[in-house]
Amino acid sequence: MRLYKKAGNTIQIISFPDEDVEKGGYLIIEDKKAGKSMIVQVIDIQFANVPGIMEELLREPLIDNPIRGEDVDPLDITSHILYVQDARLLICKIHGSIEDGKLSPDSSWLPSRTHSVIRKLPIDRLMEVSGMVSVFPINLGETIEKTPTIIDACNLDGKLNIITGRKGTGKSHLSKLLVLGLITHGATVIILDLNGEYKNLGLDVNDKRNEFSDKIHVLIPGANFKITLLQASLPVMMRILTYALDLPGTSAREFRHIWRFLEERNMLSFHELSEAIRRWQCNQQVKDALFSRYYTLLHSNFFTDNPSEAMDFEVLIRRAEDDGGGAIILDLSNSSSIDRQIVVEYVLAKLQDLLSQWRIRAVFLFAEEAHLYLRETYWDDIVTRMRHFGVFTTFITNQPNTIRENIYRQADNIFLFNFVNEHDLEIISRAARVDAETTVSIVRDLPPHHCLILGEVVKDFPIIAKIRQLNVKTMGETRFFFVNNHAIRMMKESREKSAENHQ
Ligand SMILES: Nc1ncnc2c1ncn2[C@@H]1O[C@H](COP(=O)(O)OP(=O)(O)OP(=O)(O)O)[C@@H](O)[C@H]1O
Ligand SMILES: [Mg+2]
Repeated sequence: MRLYKKAGNTIQIISFPDEDVEKGGYLIIEDKKAGKSMIVQVIDIQFANVPGIMEELLREPLIDNPIRGEDVDPLDITSHILYVQDARLLICKIHGSIEDGKLSPDSSWLPSRTHSVIRKLPIDRLMEVSGMVSVFPINLGETIEKTPTIIDACNLDGKLNIITGRKGTGKSHLSKLLVLGLITHGATVIILDLNGEYKNLGLDVNDKRNEFSDKIHVLIPGANFKITLLQASLPVMMRILTYALDLPGTSAREFRHIWRFLEERNMLSFHELSEAIRRWQCNQQVKDALFSRYYTLLHSNFFTDNPSEAMDFEVLIRRAEDDGGGAIILDLSNSSSIDRQIVVEYVLAKLQDLLSQWRIRAVFLFAEEAHLYLRETYWDDIVTRMRHFGVFTTFITNQPNTIRENIYRQADNIFLFNFVNEHDLEIISRAARVDAETTVSIVRDLPPHHCLILGEVVKDFPIIAKIRQLNVKTMGETRFFFVNNHAIRMMKESREKSAENHQ
């Protein structure tokens, strides 16, 4: 390999056909005289544009015509020409220098063209140089060089992460891998599971309980997850009413009076609430507004007057902590959009409450397609206030435009799967931690199940990883109409069951 050009933080290197270089791989340019080396990453591989090459290529078919006779090429020029035709130009991005064995971000110097030596820098060696140590290792899979990609759970701690990519490329799969890694190391994880695809993390592919099964707690709002009004408390109720149910200001004020009235008399229950609204002295419009919200809350089935039916969220989190880690999965797959917002509002408010009083340790929150249930003001809250309290969020989405630009800018780690759409590529390339050219060039060519990891977990050296398989029932698949025997079997079973129930 030979150094060809440098412009800004881009370096162009000429590579010959017998040198094996991959997109996403790292090279080291060693300049012995300067006593420094430069670390660069190959982000694109192109043909070397040698003058006259087009003419040469155009001429070749003529030469290939079977003309009888003997080729006289005593100086073996043909092989040289072919060699030049196949020479490649590597477009590389500078990622820092090594001087006296130490890594520095310096990229301003110019390595010598004549006596620099360019070698491949294996990714495991790069990890060593950059000081990536894994105190709490999570194995994500392997690098393009088939060495393990191991990240440190500490680098997810206190951080904001984003997993994004095209549909079906393996985002939820990676997120499950991170969840299991975190709970193995004793963390508490809360998952807002929109598609109900995390609930089987405690089962292996053969439907048998696996080593995580005791640590997986599935909450289905309205079924095994209900709360009493007392648990909800007035501030949380007010937030649900104003943000999820759009209750206007005057009605909200009346609701607060009614709540206090019932609370003082120790009569706080759903039943009493409806009676109180009915009897309350206020304008009919306010009454109607309150009643409509009352019925929405009632029909969500999330509230109960029976304390033995209610679930104490704090106890559940504490149990997960005492068990040495656990995942609380909020299955929102059967909830309507309003119900989802009510439940999420409660859970986040409760978390904030418990954390601010130091009643629980920090939690990791995984939110799939958060724009479908997270209210506007929460986005900023999650990256600022809630992070300080100890809620460390990972957003997972296949629509990068649903995550605000400032969230990208503040993200500490970004896991990017394939994107081909220019618009999507443009959005992700705006993330501050990412060099736009690197991202777009690599992400566009990523095969499924491969992801470009950026940020703290890789010490800002973008690394491509092939995500490993999981021996758990992942259930991420989309249901198809054609070719899905499993779906047909499930439907038959369900119909038989319902027929039995009717008999
Ligand atoms: N690294 C992997 N190894 C093996 N199978 C995988 C891997 N990643 C994903 N899969 C499988 O591919 C399918 C799609 O993956 P997944 O549900 O994670 O995609 P997704 O990006 O979340 O899709 P969607 O956008 O629809 O949510 C699933 O059946 C999953 O089990
Ligand atoms: Mg998914």
